[in-house]
Amino acid sequence: MALSSHAALAAVDAVRQHFAERLAPGKESAPVAAELEHILALLADVDFSKADEKHLQASGHPVIRHLQQVGVSAKDNEVLAAFLPHLDALPWRYSYETRADAPDIGERMAWAELVGPIAPFKSEKVCIGLTAIGPGLLYPAHYHPAVETYLVLFGTARWTAEGITREHPPGTLILHPSNIIHAMQASDEPLLAAYAWTGDVETLSAYAEQ
Ligand SMILES: [Fe+2]
Repeated sequence: MALSSHAALAAVDAVRQHFAERLAPGKESAPVAAELEHILALLADVDFSKADEKHLQASGHPVIRHLQQVGVSAKDNEVLAAFLPHLDALPWRYSYETRADAPDIGERMAWAELVGPIAPFKSEKVCIGLTAIGPGLLYPAHYHPAVETYLVLFGTARWTAEGITREHPPGTLILHPSNIIHAMQASDEPLLAAYAWTGDVETLSAYAEQ
């Protein structure tokens, strides 16, 4: 089963539309609003007229089996609604090296990119994707040069950045400046969050400690 280019484009468009709505005056902090504008400007330069078929193939990643609970809030969230029918068909991947302290982590979390250097819609300047973390899983401290914006779609996880931990419910936008160390701890629900990367989107994320 592959993801249709139409479904991929609809999901990206839902993210774009949501980010545009969050730009209404006074809704977000100045740094978040500036980054949303940056993301939207970069997306305007992406060629969405054709999708790379090889990146529309479903990976069949085992993270899918941890996402059975996702869905109850879809009616309230147009971005989640755009992704939800296609969770089985997304090109999920996990590309960190193995960790001795979490040998099965690569089966319980993954991300699927729709815009980016390795994605159906090619860009070397901006990424749009979906991160999934299984119930109870800690996504350990990590960092990357790209500036990252997350939109929580499902699950209230504990998010840590620069040593400060907060619970963020669905609808929250979270900005991670370049190379900040951050981590997420899923609750008894899975965490599903859309993300955007800008800046150096080619350098992979790395764990802060093993
Ligand atoms: Fe990150």
